[in-house]
Amino acid sequence: MGLVLGIESSCDETAAALVTTGRRILAQRIASQDEEHAPYGGVVPEIAARAHAERLAPIIAGVLKDAGKTLADCDAIAATAGPGLIGGVMVGLVSAKALAMASDTPLIAINHLEGHALSPRLVDPELGFPYLLLLVSGGHCQILRVEGVGRYRRLATTIDDALGEAFDKTAKILGLGFPGGPAVERLAKQGDPRAVPLPRPLVRSGEPHFSFAGLKSAVLRAHESSLHTPEDIAASFQQAALDCVLDRLRIACAATDKMPALVVAGGVASNQSIRAALETFAKDNAMRFVAPPPALCTDNAAMIAWAGCERLGQSDPLDFVARPRWPLDPSAEPARGAGVKA
Ligand code: KG4
Ligand code: ZN
Repeated sequence: MGLVLGIESSCDETAAALVTTGRRILAQRIASQDEEHAPYGGVVPEIAARAHAERLAPIIAGVLKDAGKTLADCDAIAATAGPGLIGGVMVGLVSAKALAMASDTPLIAINHLEGHALSPRLVDPELGFPYLLLLVSGGHCQILRVEGVGRYRRLATTIDDALGEAFDKTAKILGLGFPGGPAVERLAKQGDPRAVPLPRPLVRSGEPHFSFAGLKSAVLRAHESSLHTPEDIAASFQQAALDCVLDRLRIACAATDKMPALVVAGGVASNQSIRAALETFAKDNAMRFVAPPPALCTDNAAMIAWAGCERLGQSDPLDFVARPRWPLDPSAEPARGAGVKA
């Protein structure tokens, strides 16, 4: 059985994990930087990079100790090599290169999005290819046909904000602090999802891509009107976002062959209302539904180690360059009206 050390440092979580090809997480540690970034209402790249540089080595030493393993026991060292905040990515990738070189172990450079995309296979041995993937995080919002390791066809992306970003901005408008997603979800539980009339951008337009900028502006107007409680705004926002997701999934299903499973991954996939609605959608469309446990949806190193397990036998050169942008489907056309996000 193979053993892979995984390292994640692309945003504001510093993490390491040891995972076997037999799908066992032997050890994992994660340090969140929420406190450092909270005063700024979002992740500050320079602060993130410095925090990764300070914390990563003790975290790696810690997981080896927790599992009673040494680098010599590892069959590969897998590290996120992009996309993400470049300073943090470089800290993780350079650390992995040094460990790989010192222990004469193969380096595997992992696309962070592939980590999310394959994470459901870590928890579900029955999940084979292909599957329909909704990848919803702070930086990305895509629907993909996952055809195999390294083989992804993008069916939809966002032309402006990612879904997690829309949650974070809504939280900021409502004064809920950072990170916003879990706070909006908590508040939404106490509100009425039909109380505030909010738009569902692009719904029933036949457009395959996502757009959340208009929804965010409507949330701001609803808040400034003082006509609605924050609870009702949070609940109505979550419902509008969910309606958009379900509409786009219907279009994606129609645009591809029948998929045996619907899979959700990325930070927003830890939202219980969204998970429940997706489960119903999958059932109605005769698909299995697979969602990793919430701790494997938000950024973590077990998913990076697992992607390394999926790629075990490959190795990347020690001069592999960290990539701030790294689309899963490089052949996908830019979405009409899209800004910088692929
Ligand atoms: O995957 P992730 O940890 O980092 C990125 O790669 O972006 O996703 C973080 C995003 C943030 O925007 C956060 O607000 C959102 O996921 N998120 C949630 C929830 N938990 C995290 N959004 C909605 N509901 C949640 N419970
Ligand atoms: Zn992520």
